[in-house]
Amino acid sequence: MLDGKRILLVISGGIAAYKCPDLVRRLRERGASVRCVLSDAAKQFVTPLALGAVSEDKVYDNLFSLTDEHEMGHIQLSREADVLLVAPATANILAKMAHGEANDLATTVLLATDKPVLAAPAMNVRMWEHAATQANIATLRSRGVTMIGPEEGDMACGEYGMGRMTDTLDIVAALEEFFSTGRPLAGKRALVTSGPTYEPIDPVRYIANRSSGKQGHAIATALAALGAETTLVSGPTRLADPAGVKAVHIESAAEMLAACKAALPVDIAVCAAAVCDWRVAEEASEKLKKPPGDAPPPLHLAENPDILATLSQAGGTRPGLVIGFAAETENVVGNAEAKLARKGCDWIVANDVSPETGTFAGDSNTVHLITAGSSEDWPALSKTEVGERLARRIAETLSPETEIV
Ligand code: C5P
Repeated sequence: MLDGKRILLVISGGIAAYKCPDLVRRLRERGASVRCVLSDAAKQFVTPLALGAVSEDKVYDNLFSLTDEHEMGHIQLSREADVLLVAPATANILAKMAHGEANDLATTVLLATDKPVLAAPAMNVRMWEHAATQANIATLRSRGVTMIGPEEGDMACGEYGMGRMTDTLDIVAALEEFFSTGRPLAGKRALVTSGPTYEPIDPVRYIANRSSGKQGHAIATALAALGAETTLVSGPTRLADPAGVKAVHIESAAEMLAACKAALPVDIAVCAAAVCDWRVAEEASEKLKKPPGDAPPPLHLAENPDILATLSQAGGTRPGLVIGFAAETENVVGNAEAKLARKGCDWIVANDVSPETGTFAGDSNTVHLITAGSSEDWPALSKTEVGERLARRIAETLSPETEIV
């Protein structure tokens, strides 16, 4: 059932839009309220009148309507829902979502929302298989958008293949699943560290490392998608803040530790950041000048606080489950097991980061999950998939009664 759930149905311009009045009826039969937003193209396939009649609500389709903005601004529209469902999601609207475009009401609402987004793609098989569409789907999934389908079958254009919108009742079932088992971490608080740290030498120079933050951000995205109230404490990266996550931006290890302590208490802590082991003992207050002779200035290093060990040994505020990472270049599992014991954490995700693996800047990761007394080898997965699999494992451990799909 979907009792009391508020669904904002974003309809884009594909032939499958003709199924939307029925979709609205089925969702309402299960207790949901549905409010519709149409793209301009959608109006060619389904009328606002029909949707207004079945939803028993106003239908929104114009970004620049003064009346609508006065009654219900586009930001409010995007927030006054429990979930946004894009159906049908055409190749065009998926591309716009992936690139953050906001040139009509439908895309503006999707960019402005802080709620989970589900999308039911519908398009011709060649458009679906096109590398651009597949890249957009991967981008959206990595940001936490849940895809429903598409399915394989006969298409309105006469071709056969992947790209048919999932049947109405299956979309309804996917939403029910999303609200029941899809959020097993609802009510749990999670903290994730990500990215490198920058340790200042003087006001313009710093010591850092090559971490991209992709793995940590993917874990935060996946935990939030399972319903955890997630804080991401991140060093400087090129990545956008994941949707639905509270992002705290820091530079140094000391700042990261302070931000982590401020986020406590949490149920789950995942330390995926590549924290610099050392900082410059005394940051110069002025830019260091080249010395008059040949000798460069010496850098005296001091050890940084170990955030993972600090959280693992935090006494009464220790998170229920503390997970660290071990980036190793040899004896990966053996070194990770020793690290688990040394730091006092519960699990270690160990990966081989020797340069030939391309793990540091790349999109994929081959990891081993080390827990007390056991070690699991995971296959090569994208960092998004590692995040999703880890989040599911966390959910199974913390909420074993919930079946995770
Ligand atoms: O000791 P090592 O750096 O190999 O340990 C890696 C793990 O410890 C990672 O989970 C990393 O995020 C965490 N770590 C930390 N603070 C440090 C150093 C590492 O949280 N100062």
